[in-house]
Amino acid sequence: MSINSEKDLEGLRKVGRIVARCLRHMQSMLEPGITTGELDAIGGKFLEDHGARSAPKLTYNFPGFTCISVNEEAAHGIPGAKVLKAGDLVNIDVSAEFGGYFADTGGSAIIPPESKLHLQICAAAKQALENAMLEARAGAKLNRIGHAIEAEAVRNGFTVIENLGSHGVGRALHEEPEFIPGFYDKRDKRVLKENQVITIEPFVSSGAREVFENGDGWTLVTSPGVFTAQYEHTLVITKGKPLIMTLPT
Ligand code: CO
Ligand code: CO
Repeated sequence: MSINSEKDLEGLRKVGRIVARCLRHMQSMLEPGITTGELDAIGGKFLEDHGARSAPKLTYNFPGFTCISVNEEAAHGIPGAKVLKAGDLVNIDVSAEFGGYFADTGGSAIIPPESKLHLQICAAAKQALENAMLEARAGAKLNRIGHAIEAEAVRNGFTVIENLGSHGVGRALHEEPEFIPGFYDKRDKRVLKENQVITIEPFVSSGAREVFENGDGWTLVTSPGVFTAQYEHTLVITKGKPLIMTLPT
């Protein structure tokens, strides 16, 4: 969507704050012994308490309130009986609707003790998000986002997942532009516009370039021993720095 009024901006800020706080709350509950289903129920309750509805459930009938992807799972993990343990890399993705507006956020976290590799891919993905946000301004080519993400991944000796990307958001979970690559596509002539609402969500991997659905209809995985980190914000494009909607404060 594009922001057309103060009301739009306020609506997006509200739902953005809810999903960001939900993510932070769920991450604070991460500990060995909790199941992904229990964690998801905590997130679901948080959304409900704030009058928000899970966007993946609403939009795709996803079997959970949030997506929880562990270790080799890169995205769209179904919460369930899986018991989290020390050393796990856990990605939580929270998106929701409130008052007709949608926001989408996500982040990877490690249950201590943290392996060096997990710390490195998390740091690279976080930095890739920061770098890409600096490139995302009105008038810039959309492919600057993928350029920034890929450059940061490569600088750290990592890869990006090429079949997962960022996207438009705002009045629905996924809107035009439907797919913003996490790599540099020089043929992509699309240009960012002022007031446009998009996510930026780099998927930085320790070696994979693609994810595959694991057979459960949802979970996107790489291969054994390969790990992926993701951080995601919902943003409004301006002539300067983008306005981050998904901050917990
Ligand atoms: Co997301
Ligand atoms: Co997203």
